[in-house]
Amino acid sequence: MKHKRLLIIGIISLATTTMNAQNKDHLDPKKPIEERISLLLKQMTLEEKVGQMNQYNGFWEVTGPSPKGGDAEVKYEHLRKGWVGSMLSVRGVKNVKAVQKIAVEESRLGIPLIIGFDVIHGYKTLSPIPLAEAASWDLEAIKKSAQVAADEASAAGINWTFGPMMDVARDARWGRVMEGSGEDPYLGSKIAVARVKGFQGETTADLAKVNTLASCAKHFAAYGFAEAGRDYNTVDISTSTLYNVVLPPFKAAKEAGVRTYMNSFNILNGIPATGNSFLQRTILKGDWKFDGFIVTDWASIREMKSHGFAKDAADASAKAVLAGADMDMESHYYVAELVKLVQSGQVKEALIDDAVRRILRVKFELGLFDNPYKYCDEVREQQVIGSKANNEAVLDMAKKSIVLLKNEKSLLPLKKSGQKIVLIGALASDKTSPLGSWRIASDDETAISVLEGMQAYKGNTLTYEKGAALTVGKTTFIDELVFNTTDKSGFEAAQNAAKNADVVVMVLGEHGFQSGEARSRTNLDLPGVQQELLEAVYKVNPNIVLVLNNGRPLALPWASEHVPAIVEAWQLGTQTGAAVAQVLYGDYNPSGKLPMSFPRNVGQCPIYYNNYNTGRPINAEKNVFWSHYSDVEKTPLYPFGFGLSYTTFDYKNLKVTPTASVKGGVVQVTVEVSNIGAYDGKEVVQLYIHDEVASLARPVLELKGFELVALKKGETKTISFQLTDKELGFYDNEGRYLVEAGTFKVRVGGSSDKGLEGRFELGF
Ligand code: NOJ
Repeated sequence: MKHKRLLIIGIISLATTTMNAQNKDHLDPKKPIEERISLLLKQMTLEEKVGQMNQYNGFWEVTGPSPKGGDAEVKYEHLRKGWVGSMLSVRGVKNVKAVQKIAVEESRLGIPLIIGFDVIHGYKTLSPIPLAEAASWDLEAIKKSAQVAADEASAAGINWTFGPMMDVARDARWGRVMEGSGEDPYLGSKIAVARVKGFQGETTADLAKVNTLASCAKHFAAYGFAEAGRDYNTVDISTSTLYNVVLPPFKAAKEAGVRTYMNSFNILNGIPATGNSFLQRTILKGDWKFDGFIVTDWASIREMKSHGFAKDAADASAKAVLAGADMDMESHYYVAELVKLVQSGQVKEALIDDAVRRILRVKFELGLFDNPYKYCDEVREQQVIGSKANNEAVLDMAKKSIVLLKNEKSLLPLKKSGQKIVLIGALASDKTSPLGSWRIASDDETAISVLEGMQAYKGNTLTYEKGAALTVGKTTFIDELVFNTTDKSGFEAAQNAAKNADVVVMVLGEHGFQSGEARSRTNLDLPGVQQELLEAVYKVNPNIVLVLNNGRPLALPWASEHVPAIVEAWQLGTQTGAAVAQVLYGDYNPSGKLPMSFPRNVGQCPIYYNNYNTGRPINAEKNVFWSHYSDVEKTPLYPFGFGLSYTTFDYKNLKVTPTASVKGGVVQVTVEVSNIGAYDGKEVVQLYIHDEVASLARPVLELKGFELVALKKGETKTISFQLTDKELGFYDNEGRYLVEAGTFKVRVGGSSDKGLEGRFELGF
C-alpha cells in the first residue's frame, strides 16, 4: 500500500516536472527586455498568451482555503493554469503574496501577475481629491503627492495604479470631475505629467525601484464629455475638440513615459472606446508609438453589447482586440473567446502576440520576473504606510489645495485669541467624508475633522453645534445616499450658539460619497437642509466663514452674495482639519486657484472659460437678440483660475516682444508682479492667448503658461513666459496641427477673467 502511494507520488512529481520543463533564459536579467520577452513568448501556448490578457478582480479570502465552487473557484483554477495576467484590488502584502505564489509557483510558466489598484489620491494616507490638488497649480507638490501614494501602495504589494485620471471635464454635474484636473487641457497636461512621474519616477528605469508603480492614463478617451453630465453617457464631439481638448493630457502622459492606458466606458461618436480602433490603434499605438499596454475599463468589453455594438461575447472580444484593447478587466470574455477566435482565423495570432508582448514588457520593466515578491515586504509595509513623513506630505498638499473665494469684513484670517468662535455643520465633525470617494484602502473615521483641527488652536473659545444631520441611514461606496431633508431640530441650538459668537465657521457641502463614479447630480446646491441652516444662522449672525466641502464645483449664488467669507476646502483627505485650521488661522496663506468654473446655477452647465465666441457675444443692439440668458448672467459665479489670498497682488508692465514674430520664432511675454498687501503669499501668474482669426474658430482664451510665484510682502518679481509654435497652433478636424499667421491677444493675470493685455502678430 505504502509502495503504491510512493509510486503515485513519484509519477505525479515526474509529470509535474515534465509539464514545468521550460527554458529559463528569459529570467536572465542581463539580457535585454525585448529578447527576454521573445524567449518567453516562444514557450507560451495560445491559452497562456490569452491568459496574460485576462485580468480578474480579487475574489476570495486568498490567505484562507482555496475556494470551492462558483466564480471564485473558476478564477482560482485559471490562476493555476496561467490564464490570468493580472489581478486588481488584491492588496496587503499577505494577500498579494498569496495570489502571486499561485501564479508563480503553481502555473506552468510561473509568469508573475501585475497587481493593479485604484490608487487615486493616496493609498491609506490620503491626499486631497485630485480636483482639489489641481487647484494648487503646484506641480512639485502634486508630484510629491503621487510619490507618497506610490510609496504606500507599493508597500502594500501593489505595482500598478489605475491613475492618473486625466479626463478634461466641463460639466460639474458629472461626479467624476473630482478625479481629474478640471476643465483645461494645458493645466491638465502639466498635472498629468507630474502625476505620472510621481507614480513611476522620472524614467522607465525607475519602475524597477520598489517604491514606484506603473501608472495608467485614463479614461481613453473623452469620458469627461458625457452628455448632460450623466455618468457613462454618450459622447459626441468633433475631431478638433478631441485633439485640442481631450487628448493633450494623454499625449503629455505618453511623452512622460506612462506605461499603460485604460480605455473608457463611453461611446465616442457612435463607437465604444473599447472597440475604437481610431483611438487605440491609429492614435495611441500608431501616431504616438505607445509601446505599453491598454487595459479596458471594468467589463467594458461586455458593455459593448449594451451599447448595441457587439452581438455576443465572441463579437465583442473580436472587436475589442482588433481595436487594440490588450487586457480585459473583468469581462471574462477574452479568456473565453480569444483562443477560439484565433483558431477560426478571425483574429491573427500576431495580434495576440503583440498584446502579450506589451503586457510582459511592463512586467519586465517592473522587475517582476527578477523578483515576483519584490513588493511583498512586510517590514516595509509596516514602516511606510501611515508614516509621519507621508502625513506631513499630504498635509502640505491639503493646504495648497484650498481656494479662498471671498473674504470681506476682514473675517479671515481668524484672530488667534480672545474670540468666541462657533463651528457649525455635520461635516465639521465628520472624520470620514473628507476622505472622498476613492479611498478603498483607508479606514473610515481616519481623517482629522475640521473640529479637531480647530481645537488645536487653543486661544479662542470654540463651541460646536451640528445644526442638522447631512445624511440619513448608511453611507457606503455602493449605495445611493439619502439626505436629511426634514430634520431641523438642531437649528435652534445652532442659532443660539451663533448669536453671541464673534465669528461663525460653517462647514457645509457635499458628502464624500456624493462625487466620483456614478454620482451625477442635476442640482449643484448644498444638499439636504444645509442651505436653510445657513440662512437661519445668517439671520442671527452674518459674520460667517463658509468652509465648503465638495467634489465638484457647486452653484451657490445666495452664499456668494451674502456670506462674507468663503473657503473652498473640497475633500482634503487624511489631514483635512489640520489644513483647514491652518488656513483659517492664517498659518498658511491660501494660494489655490479654481481648476473648474463654478456656475451661477446648474442651467449654465457645461460652462468653461475656453469657450468659443458666438456671432453675438455682446449686447450691441441693446435688445434681447444676443447670446445670453434672460434670467442669469452668462458668466460663471467664480471663473477658472480664480482664487484670493490674504495679501494682494498687483500686475504691471506687460511686455510682449517682438510684436511681429514669425512661425518657428519665440515670443517673450514678461510682467511684473508685486505683493502689495500685508502678508507674504503665493500667486499663480497665468498666461492666456486668443488667436483672433483662424481657419477654425479658436477659443476666446486658452491657458498657455503659468507660474506659481512666492512673494514676500512688498516684493516684486518679473515673470516671463515664452510662446512658440507649440503654444500657438491647434489641431483641425482631420487631426492636423496647424500654426497660422495672424494676430494673437495675450492676457496675463491672476485669473481667467482679468489681466493685462497685449498683442502680437505672427507672420511667415
Ligand atoms: C471603473 C472605473 O471607471 C475605473 O476608473 C477604475 O479604475 C476601475 N473601475 C477599476 O476599479
